Amino acid sequence: MRRIVRKRQLSENVFQFVVEAPHVAKAHRPGQFVVIQLEDEFSERIPLSVADWDPEAGTITLIVQVVGKTTRMLSLRREGEGIAHVLGPLGNPTDIEKVGTVVCVGGGIGTAPLHPIARAFRRKGNRVISIIGARTKDLIILEDEMRSVSDELIVCTDDGSYGRKALVTEPLKELCEQGDVNEVVAIGPPIMMKFCAETTRPFGIKTVVSLNTIMVDGTGMCGGCRVKVGDEIKFVCVDGPEFDGHLVDFDGMMRRLAAYRPMEQEKDHRCKLEL
Ligand code: FES
Repeated sequence: MRRIVRKRQLSENVFQFVVEAPHVAKAHRPGQFVVIQLEDEFSERIPLSVADWDPEAGTITLIVQVVGKTTRMLSLRREGEGIAHVLGPLGNPTDIEKVGTVVCVGGGIGTAPLHPIARAFRRKGNRVISIIGARTKDLIILEDEMRSVSDELIVCTDDGSYGRKALVTEPLKELCEQGDVNEVVAIGPPIMMKFCAETTRPFGIKTVVSLNTIMVDGTGMCGGCRVKVGDEIKFVCVDGPEFDGHLVDFDGMMRRLAAYRPMEQEKDHRCKLEL
Protein backbone atom coordinates (compact mmCIF):
# COMPACT_ATOMS: atom_id res chain seq x y z
CA MET A 1 0.00 0.00 0.00
CA ARG A 2 1.29 3.46 -0.93
CA ARG A 3 0.26 5.94 1.76
CA ILE A 4 -1.47 9.22 0.89
CA VAL A 5 0.53 11.87 2.75
CA ARG A 6 -1.45 14.95 1.70
CA LYS A 7 -4.67 15.60 -0.17
CA ARG A 8 -5.96 18.87 -1.56
CA GLN A 9 -9.05 19.63 -3.64
CA LEU A 10 -8.10 21.87 -6.56
CA SER A 11 -11.52 22.24 -8.12
CA GLU A 12 -14.91 20.54 -7.99
CA ASN A 13 -13.66 17.37 -9.66
CA VAL A 14 -9.89 17.66 -9.44
CA PHE A 15 -7.80 16.46 -6.50
CA GLN A 16 -4.10 16.58 -5.69
CA PHE A 17 -2.53 13.67 -3.80
CA VAL A 18 0.99 13.51 -2.43
CA VAL A 19 1.73 9.79 -2.24
CA GLU A 20 4.65 7.82 -0.83
CA ALA A 21 6.31 6.10 -3.80
CA PRO A 22 10.09 6.25 -3.24
CA HIS A 23 11.01 4.06 -6.23
CA VAL A 24 9.07 6.31 -8.61
CA ALA A 25 10.24 9.55 -6.96
CA LYS A 26 13.85 8.54 -7.45
CA ALA A 27 13.58 7.67 -11.14
CA HIS A 28 10.88 10.00 -12.45
CA ARG A 29 11.59 12.45 -15.29
CA PRO A 30 9.40 15.21 -16.84
CA GLY A 31 6.95 13.76 -19.36
CA GLN A 32 6.55 10.37 -17.72
CA PHE A 33 3.46 9.05 -15.95
CA VAL A 34 2.35 6.31 -13.58
CA VAL A 35 -0.39 3.67 -13.62
CA ILE A 36 -2.21 2.98 -10.37
CA GLN A 37 -4.38 0.18 -9.04
CA LEU A 38 -6.54 1.25 -6.15
CA GLU A 39 -7.45 -1.91 -4.22
CA ASP A 40 -5.27 -4.84 -5.35
CA GLU A 41 -3.64 -6.42 -8.40
CA PHE A 42 -7.06 -7.12 -9.93
CA SER A 43 -8.23 -3.47 -9.78
CA GLU A 44 -8.63 -1.38 -12.91
CA ARG A 45 -5.33 0.17 -14.02
CA ILE A 46 -5.51 3.87 -14.76
CA PRO A 47 -2.75 6.19 -16.01
CA LEU A 48 -2.18 9.35 -13.98
CA SER A 49 -0.13 12.50 -14.49
CA VAL A 50 2.70 13.27 -12.12
CA ALA A 51 2.77 17.00 -11.37
CA ASP A 52 5.87 16.84 -9.18
CA TRP A 53 8.10 14.50 -7.21
CA ASP A 54 10.53 14.68 -4.30
CA PRO A 55 13.30 12.05 -4.31
CA GLU A 56 14.37 13.08 -0.78
CA ALA A 57 10.94 12.65 0.75
CA GLY A 58 10.17 9.68 -1.51
CA THR A 59 6.87 11.17 -2.63
CA ILE A 60 5.12 11.95 -5.92
CA THR A 61 2.30 14.42 -6.54
CA LEU A 62 -0.63 13.07 -8.54
CA ILE A 63 -3.43 15.14 -10.03
CA VAL A 64 -6.68 13.26 -10.47
CA GLN A 65 -9.82 14.34 -12.30
CA VAL A 66 -12.97 12.37 -11.49
CA VAL A 67 -14.07 10.86 -14.80
CA GLY A 68 -15.17 7.32 -13.86
CA LYS A 69 -15.45 4.72 -11.13
CA THR A 70 -11.78 4.38 -10.15
CA THR A 71 -11.06 8.11 -10.12
CA ARG A 72 -14.24 8.66 -8.06
CA MET A 73 -13.16 6.01 -5.54
CA LEU A 74 -9.70 7.58 -5.39
CA SER A 75 -11.16 11.05 -4.84
CA LEU A 76 -12.78 9.74 -1.66
CA ARG A 77 -9.51 8.43 -0.19
CA ARG A 78 -8.22 10.43 2.78
CA GLU A 79 -4.79 11.31 4.09
CA GLY A 80 -3.28 8.28 5.81
CA GLU A 81 -5.18 5.85 3.55
CA GLY A 82 -3.46 4.24 0.60
CA ILE A 83 -3.29 3.20 -3.03
CA ALA A 84 -2.52 -0.51 -3.56
CA HIS A 85 -0.05 -0.17 -6.43
CA VAL A 86 1.78 2.71 -8.12
CA LEU A 87 3.57 1.47 -11.25
CA GLY A 88 6.15 3.69 -12.85
CA PRO A 89 7.72 5.77 -14.04
CA LEU A 90 6.23 4.80 -17.42
CA GLY A 91 6.66 6.26 -20.89
CA ASN A 92 9.54 8.26 -22.29
CA PRO A 93 10.83 11.46 -20.72
CA THR A 94 10.43 14.75 -22.58
CA ASP A 95 13.32 15.69 -24.84
CA ILE A 96 14.53 18.86 -23.09
CA GLU A 97 16.97 20.88 -25.22
CA LYS A 98 18.02 24.51 -25.28
CA VAL A 99 16.08 25.76 -28.29
CA GLY A 100 15.30 29.41 -27.45
CA THR A 101 11.66 30.20 -26.70
CA VAL A 102 9.31 27.40 -25.70
CA VAL A 103 5.57 27.96 -25.40
CA CYS A 104 3.93 25.54 -22.95
CA VAL A 105 0.16 25.23 -23.39
CA GLY A 106 -1.95 23.50 -20.74
CA GLY A 107 -5.68 22.85 -20.87
CA GLY A 108 -7.57 21.85 -17.72
CA ILE A 109 -5.85 18.98 -15.95
CA GLY A 110 -3.18 18.93 -18.69
CA THR A 111 -1.47 21.71 -16.74
CA ALA A 112 -0.36 19.06 -14.20
CA PRO A 113 2.09 17.11 -16.40
CA LEU A 114 3.03 20.37 -18.13
CA HIS A 115 4.39 21.95 -14.96
CA PRO A 116 7.58 19.83 -14.62
CA ILE A 117 8.16 20.05 -18.37
CA ALA A 118 8.02 23.87 -18.33
CA ARG A 119 10.34 23.88 -15.30
CA ALA A 120 12.85 21.61 -17.06
CA PHE A 121 12.87 23.78 -20.21
CA ARG A 122 13.47 26.88 -18.09
CA ARG A 123 16.26 25.22 -16.10
CA LYS A 124 17.87 24.33 -19.43
CA GLY A 125 18.08 28.05 -20.22
CA ASN A 126 15.06 28.50 -22.46
CA ARG A 127 12.62 31.40 -22.30
CA VAL A 128 9.33 29.81 -21.30
CA ILE A 129 5.98 31.38 -22.07
CA SER A 130 3.09 29.42 -20.61
CA ILE A 131 -0.56 29.58 -21.57
CA ILE A 132 -3.04 27.80 -19.31
CA GLY A 133 -6.76 27.64 -19.93
CA ALA A 134 -10.02 26.11 -18.78
CA ARG A 135 -13.74 26.52 -19.34
CA THR A 136 -14.13 28.71 -16.27
CA LYS A 137 -12.13 30.22 -13.38
CA ASP A 138 -12.75 27.36 -10.92
CA LEU A 139 -11.19 24.85 -13.32
CA ILE A 140 -7.85 26.66 -13.61
CA ILE A 141 -5.27 24.65 -11.67
CA LEU A 142 -1.62 25.18 -10.62
CA GLU A 143 -1.57 28.84 -11.64
CA ASP A 144 1.05 29.82 -9.02
CA GLU A 145 3.19 26.78 -9.83
CA MET A 146 3.13 27.60 -13.56
CA ARG A 147 3.91 31.26 -12.89
CA SER A 148 6.97 30.27 -10.88
CA VAL A 149 8.47 28.26 -13.77
CA SER A 150 7.57 30.65 -16.61
CA ASP A 151 9.00 33.95 -17.87
CA GLU A 152 5.46 34.90 -18.82
CA LEU A 153 2.10 33.32 -17.97
CA ILE A 154 -1.12 33.89 -19.89
CA VAL A 155 -4.33 32.61 -18.28
CA CYS A 156 -7.44 32.11 -20.42
CA THR A 157 -10.99 31.07 -19.67
CA ASP A 158 -13.66 30.22 -22.24
CA ASP A 159 -16.28 32.25 -20.37
CA GLY A 160 -14.05 35.20 -19.42
CA SER A 161 -14.55 34.60 -15.68
CA TYR A 162 -10.78 34.91 -15.13
CA GLY A 163 -7.82 36.09 -17.17
CA ARG A 164 -8.32 36.59 -20.86
CA LYS A 165 -11.61 35.48 -22.46
CA ALA A 166 -10.17 33.26 -25.15
CA LEU A 167 -9.29 29.75 -26.17
CA VAL A 168 -5.61 28.95 -25.60
CA THR A 169 -5.07 28.86 -29.36
CA GLU A 170 -5.64 32.64 -29.63
CA PRO A 171 -2.55 33.80 -27.67
CA LEU A 172 -0.66 30.85 -29.16
CA LYS A 173 -1.39 32.13 -32.67
CA GLU A 174 -0.36 35.67 -31.71
CA LEU A 175 2.96 34.44 -30.32
CA CYS A 176 3.58 32.40 -33.48
CA GLU A 177 2.83 35.50 -35.60
CA GLN A 178 5.35 37.52 -33.59
CA GLY A 179 7.85 35.00 -34.93
CA ASP A 180 9.86 34.17 -31.86
CA VAL A 181 8.68 30.66 -30.98
CA ASN A 182 11.04 27.71 -31.37
CA GLU A 183 8.98 24.91 -29.85
CA VAL A 184 5.49 24.33 -28.47
CA VAL A 185 4.41 21.73 -25.91
CA ALA A 186 0.64 21.29 -25.65
CA ILE A 187 -1.07 19.06 -23.08
CA GLY A 188 -4.80 18.95 -22.47
CA PRO A 189 -8.00 17.57 -23.94
CA PRO A 190 -7.48 15.95 -27.37
CA ILE A 191 -9.51 18.64 -29.12
CA MET A 192 -7.30 21.35 -27.60
CA MET A 193 -4.10 19.59 -28.62
CA LYS A 194 -5.48 19.07 -32.12
CA PHE A 195 -6.17 22.77 -32.56
CA CYS A 196 -2.85 23.81 -31.01
CA ALA A 197 -1.16 21.61 -33.62
CA GLU A 198 -3.30 23.15 -36.37
CA THR A 199 -2.37 26.63 -35.10
CA THR A 200 1.38 25.98 -35.30
CA ARG A 201 1.33 23.91 -38.50
CA PRO A 202 1.39 26.88 -40.94
CA PHE A 203 4.36 28.31 -39.04
CA GLY A 204 6.31 25.03 -39.16
CA ILE A 205 6.96 25.16 -35.40
CA LYS A 206 7.81 21.87 -33.70
CA THR A 207 4.78 20.95 -31.60
CA VAL A 208 4.90 18.18 -29.02
CA VAL A 209 1.68 16.78 -27.56
CA SER A 210 1.29 14.35 -24.66
CA LEU A 211 -1.51 11.83 -25.17
CA ASN A 212 -3.64 10.33 -22.44
CA THR A 213 -5.49 7.34 -23.91
CA ILE A 214 -7.27 4.33 -22.44
CA MET A 215 -4.60 2.05 -20.99
CA VAL A 216 -4.78 -1.49 -19.66
CA ASP A 217 -1.35 -2.94 -18.95
CA GLY A 218 0.80 0.14 -19.59
CA THR A 219 3.60 -2.05 -20.89
CA GLY A 220 2.96 -2.35 -24.62
CA MET A 221 1.25 -5.77 -24.43
CA CYS A 222 -2.49 -5.11 -24.83
CA GLY A 223 -2.72 -2.54 -27.62
CA GLY A 224 -5.42 -0.62 -25.73
CA CYS A 225 -3.57 2.66 -26.04
CA ARG A 226 -2.86 2.46 -29.78
CA VAL A 227 -2.97 5.62 -31.84
CA LYS A 228 -2.08 6.46 -35.44
CA VAL A 229 0.90 8.77 -35.82
CA GLY A 230 1.75 9.51 -39.44
CA ASP A 231 1.60 6.15 -41.23
CA GLU A 232 2.39 4.14 -38.14
CA ILE A 233 0.44 2.66 -35.26
CA LYS A 234 2.06 3.62 -31.97
CA PHE A 235 1.39 2.56 -28.39
CA VAL A 236 1.12 5.61 -26.13
CA CYS A 237 2.39 3.73 -23.06
CA VAL A 238 5.73 2.65 -24.51
CA ASP A 239 6.24 4.79 -27.64
CA GLY A 240 4.88 7.96 -26.01
CA PRO A 241 3.20 9.59 -24.29
CA GLU A 242 4.66 12.46 -26.37
CA PHE A 243 4.37 12.63 -30.13
CA ASP A 244 4.71 15.10 -32.97
CA GLY A 245 1.37 16.91 -32.83
CA HIS A 246 1.40 17.51 -36.58
CA LEU A 247 1.34 13.73 -37.21
CA VAL A 248 -1.17 12.48 -34.61
CA ASP A 249 -4.55 11.26 -35.92
CA PHE A 250 -6.55 13.14 -33.29
CA ASP A 251 -9.92 12.34 -34.91
CA GLY A 252 -9.24 8.59 -34.74
CA MET A 253 -8.06 8.90 -31.17
CA MET A 254 -11.15 10.87 -30.13
CA ARG A 255 -13.42 8.25 -31.79
CA ARG A 256 -11.74 5.48 -29.78
CA LEU A 257 -12.04 7.45 -26.53
CA ALA A 258 -15.72 8.21 -27.22
CA ALA A 259 -16.44 4.51 -27.78
CA TYR A 260 -15.52 3.70 -24.18
CA ARG A 261 -17.23 6.72 -22.60
CA PRO A 262 -20.76 5.20 -22.18
CA MET A 263 -19.26 2.21 -20.29
CA GLU A 264 -17.20 4.53 -18.13
CA GLN A 265 -20.25 6.67 -17.32
CA GLU A 266 -22.37 3.59 -16.57
CA LYS A 267 -19.74 2.26 -14.12
CA ASP A 268 -19.43 5.69 -12.51
CA HIS A 269 -23.21 5.96 -12.19
CA ARG A 270 -23.41 2.56 -10.46
CA CYS A 271 -20.52 3.57 -8.21
CA LYS A 272 -22.36 6.74 -7.15
CA LEU A 273 -25.48 4.69 -6.32
CA GLU A 274 -23.42 2.30 -4.20
CA LEU A 275 -21.77 5.10 -2.21
FE1 FES B 1 -1.49 -1.78 -23.27
FE2 FES B 1 -0.32 0.46 -24.00
S1 FES B 1 -1.67 0.17 -22.36
S2 FES B 1 -0.23 -1.46 -24.98
